[in-house]
Amino acid sequence: MLVLAVFVSGRGSNFLSIQRAIAEHRLDARIAVVISNRRDATALESAAALGIPARSFAGVAEAQQVAWMRDTLAEAGVNFIALAGYMKLLPGEIVAAYRHRITNIHPALLPSFGGTGMYGHHVHEAVLSSGAKVSGATVHLVDEEYDRGQIVAQRCVPVLPHDSVESLAARVLEIEHQIYPETLHLFAEDRVEVRGNRTIILS
Ligand code: GRF
Repeated sequence: MLVLAVFVSGRGSNFLSIQRAIAEHRLDARIAVVISNRRDATALESAAALGIPARSFAGVAEAQQVAWMRDTLAEAGVNFIALAGYMKLLPGEIVAAYRHRITNIHPALLPSFGGTGMYGHHVHEAVLSSGAKVSGATVHLVDEEYDRGQIVAQRCVPVLPHDSVESLAARVLEIEHQIYPETLHLFAEDRVEVRGNRTIILS
């Protein structure tokens, strides 16, 4: 079973989709703690309302943050980290301690439309101005750089002729809410193998 820490910075709809999948027995996991860099993240309120421990390190001095994260994760017994709209790089020490046990969801088809500055509406604006006919969502492993770890799962949506940033974002978000819990379940079943730059899904 995955004992998850979900890292969030804002709205938290992906966090809620993960929690829903757990409640509906589609994902063999437990969210032990929700962690945010922001005290005012809506996701923290949603977590607290569900009785899930919700913690922010906004008041923790920069130099103490790695130790705070290590302790918080250890105390909660976390064995897997899911980033869900978390807007910061994870410290290298945490990435190393949970190597191949940290995922992120990105609202486009990586390796295109990712990296520094590619978040929120910027991603969908870039997709629309590229003229691409498809976009989608990517779940990938997290390493020391933004959006660069091995891809685990992707799903496409069409880019329609009259799409706005909002309409495309909504279409992508809908599949994010499917693909993230499904992909985490693959980890729960121990079916994701990392081979170099690729992942293999074991049947
Ligand atoms: C999602 O689009 C996700 O792909 C990206 O940040 C957004 C977070 O949305 N990394 P939410 O906070 O889960 O609603």
